[in-house]
Amino acid sequence: MLTSTRKFSLALLLATSLLGTLGACKKNAEAPVAATSLYERLGGLPAVTAVVDQFIANVVAETMTSNSKLKRTFDPLVQSGNSYRVASLRNHLIDQIGQATGGPLVYKGLSMPAAHKGMNISEVEFNALVAELGKAMTSKGVPANQQTEVVNILAPLKSSIVAQ
Ligand code: HEM
Repeated sequence: MLTSTRKFSLALLLATSLLGTLGACKKNAEAPVAATSLYERLGGLPAVTAVVDQFIANVVAETMTSNSKLKRTFDPLVQSGNSYRVASLRNHLIDQIGQATGGPLVYKGLSMPAAHKGMNISEVEFNALVAELGKAMTSKGVPANQQTEVVNILAPLKSSIVAQ
């Protein structure tokens, strides 16, 4: 037969352990979950590749428009008939975006100042190129919030690309 004091102690023990369990559950619920990288959310390599291919096609098409802002810098590449240079730029961009968005790719190209040295790229040209990237992402179905994330990652490169 339990005395009322022992009954009370037992109830207290049960209550404490129940609270402890609840506390542990709450802690687990709050445990940090590995965040999905932007690279994965974009759709991994197939998505990054599709965006970069569309982007290159957009840039080439833009150089053929009457008010082109990209003709000056990209014509030497496009008109050279040197498909290796275009393919190399494409592959470098896939690696660069793949790495910058948290994917497993590794960019092995030139630094941004070295890649754009002597091109004297203006802010207008920089913005025109980023606009083509935005159009490419839209046409490949990248949601607006993820487009913003990509642009926010690339925007800080501006000072190492413009006026080099
Ligand atoms: C966030 C913006 C930019 C990024 C991430 C970027 C990235 C790159 C990369 C990765 C390369 C290749 C480097 C290598 O060959 O090792 C490259 C080259 C080049 N970029 Fe950019 N770039 C940007 C902005 C611009 C702008 C604004 C222009 C011109 C308007 C431009 C024009 C070029 C040209 C013409 C090449 C040289 C291709 C060649 O001759 O092989 N880039 N860029």
